[in-house]
Amino acid sequence: MDSYDKLSQLYEKRQQISLGGGEERIARQHEKGKLTARERIDYLLDQDTFVELNTHMRSRGSDDDPSPCEGVVTGYGKIDGRKVYLYAQDFTVNGGSLGEVHAQKICAVMDLAAKTGVPIVGLNDSGGARIQEGVSALDGYGKVFYRNAIYSGVIPQISVIMGPCAGGAVYSPALTDFVIMVEQTSQMFVTGPKVLKAITGEEISAEDLGGAAVHNKVSGSAHLKAPSEKEALDQVKVLIDYFPQNNRETPVESKSQGEKKDPAMIASIVPENPTRPYDVRNVIKEVVDNDTFFEIHPSFAKCIVVGFARMNGKVIGLVCNQPKCMAGGLDIDASDKASRFIRFCDAFNIPLVTLEDVTGFFPGVKQEHGGIIRHGAKLLYAFSEATVPKITVILRKAYGGAYVAMNSKAIGADLVFVWPNAEIAVMGPEGAASVIYAKEIQQSDDPETTKQKKIEEYRSRFATPYHAAGLGMVDDVITPEETRSSIIQALDMLEGKSEARPFKKHGNIPL
Ligand code: HXC
Repeated sequence: MDSYDKLSQLYEKRQQISLGGGEERIARQHEKGKLTARERIDYLLDQDTFVELNTHMRSRGSDDDPSPCEGVVTGYGKIDGRKVYLYAQDFTVNGGSLGEVHAQKICAVMDLAAKTGVPIVGLNDSGGARIQEGVSALDGYGKVFYRNAIYSGVIPQISVIMGPCAGGAVYSPALTDFVIMVEQTSQMFVTGPKVLKAITGEEISAEDLGGAAVHNKVSGSAHLKAPSEKEALDQVKVLIDYFPQNNRETPVESKSQGEKKDPAMIASIVPENPTRPYDVRNVIKEVVDNDTFFEIHPSFAKCIVVGFARMNGKVIGLVCNQPKCMAGGLDIDASDKASRFIRFCDAFNIPLVTLEDVTGFFPGVKQEHGGIIRHGAKLLYAFSEATVPKITVILRKAYGGAYVAMNSKAIGADLVFVWPNAEIAVMGPEGAASVIYAKEIQQSDDPETTKQKKIEEYRSRFATPYHAAGLGMVDDVITPEETRSSIIQALDMLEGKSEARPFKKHGNIPL
C-alpha cells in the first residue's frame, strides 16, 4: 500500500465509522424522533470544535466485528467557547449497549476531564450491559460508576437521557450532578416493564414506569426535562454557563449585568398576612439579574425552589421556600432536593442565597414514618458544611426548626437580612399563644377574645424581627426595596471568603 492508498483507507474507515450501525438503523432512530450520537454532538458543541478520541478502538479479537466505535462516540470540544469532554452512546450500534471497550472509552474521557479540570457530559441511549459480553460488561459499568463517584465534586458531571437507560446503567446518571430527560423518548428503570410483570405481576408502560414525567415529578431522579432532544441539549448549554470548569475555579462572571427595572415591585408580591400564599419565583425574578433564573428540579418537591441565577453578573445558587405550596413547609423531598443542590454549589464555589418564608418541617405520620428526621437533618448538615458565601433574607415568617435549617446564623450564614414585617419565632403566634396562655384563655369570660388578644401580645413581643436582631441573629432589618442591593453588596464583600473546617477524611451526612 502506498501513502495514497493509506490515506484512502483512512478516509474510507472514517466514512464507514461515521455511519455507525448503518443507514437503515439511522433511519429507525430518526423515525423514533431521535437524533444519532453524532448529530447530537454536532448540535451540542460549537461548530468544528469536536475532536474524536479512540475512534478505532475495538473489542479484543474482534477484527471483523462490525461495531463502529464500540457503540459510543467519545471526545472533547467546546460549548460557547468553554471546553467540555463528552461521550454519546450510539443506539444504532448494538443498541448502544455497554461492553468492555465501550466502558474503557467512557473511562478514558472521564479521566482526561478530571485531570484537566473540565466538565463532562454524557449522552445516554443504551440497552444497558452488552449481554454477549457478560461479566466484562458489568465490570465496565463498575469502572464508570467508580469514576462518577471519585470525580464528584471535582468536575461538574451532566447526564442527558435520550433513549432507554435500563438496569444498573441508571446508576451512572444517578451519580452525576444533573440528569436531563427527553419527554416520551427516554426512560430510566432498574427493572423494565417486562421483567416487572414476570416478577411482581405489575403491569405498566415503560413511559409510566420510568419516563421523563415520572422521574422529574415523582421520584426526583431527574432534574430537568425537555420536549425534544435539541431542547434538552440547550439545557446543557445553559447549565455549563453557570458552572466553573472545576472545583478550583469560580464561575465566569457575565459582562451584561442586567439592572432591575423597579425595586419597589418586590414589596407588592409578598402579602402582609403570613397565611396568604404567593409565588416566590416572582420575588426571585425581581431580585436577580433579568432573565437569569434557571430553576433546577422545577417539577419535584415544589415547596422549595432551587436554581441558578446571576446578581450583578455573578453566579449564585438560590434556595427558597415556596409559600404557594404547603405554606412553604419543608418535607422529606424538599429537604433532599435542597441539600443536594446546596452541596453542588458548595463543591463548585457558587455562593448561596436563601429567601426564607417557612412555617416549619411538615407535620404528619407519613412524614415522620418516612424519615423527616434524617431527611431534614440533611438540610442542616448541607448548610452547616458549606463554606461558600452564605446569605439569607427572611421575607416573612421563619418558625421553629425550619428557621434554623434555612441557613440561619447559628448554622453558619455569613449575613442574614430580614424584612420589617417578618416573624421569627419557635412557632406561629396562633399555636404559641394557645400553648403558653392556655389556662388564661380557658379561664377568661370570653375565651375567643382573650385568645386573639394573647396572639397579638405574643406577635408584638416575640414574633418580630427586632427580637432576633437585638440578639445578633440577623445582621440588619431591610426594606423589600433594599433586598437586591443588599445581596449584591454582601456578595461583593464576601468574595474570597475562606473558612476552615476541622480535619476529617469526610463527614457522614445523614442519608
Ligand atoms: C446487546 C442489545 C442490547 C443489549 C439491545 N441490543 N440491547 N445488544 N446487549 N443489552 C441490540 C438489539 O439486539 C438490536 O440489535 C439493537 O440493539 C436494537 O434493539 P431493539 O430491541 O431492536 O430496539 P428497541 O425495540 O428500540 O428496544 C430497545 C430496548 C430493548 C428496550 C433497549 O432492546 C431491550 O429491552 N434491551 C435489553 C435491555 C436490558 O435488559 N438490558 C440489560 C439490562 S441489565 P440489532 O442488531 O437487531 O440492531 C444491565 C446490568 C447493568 O444493564 C448492571 C451494571 C451494574
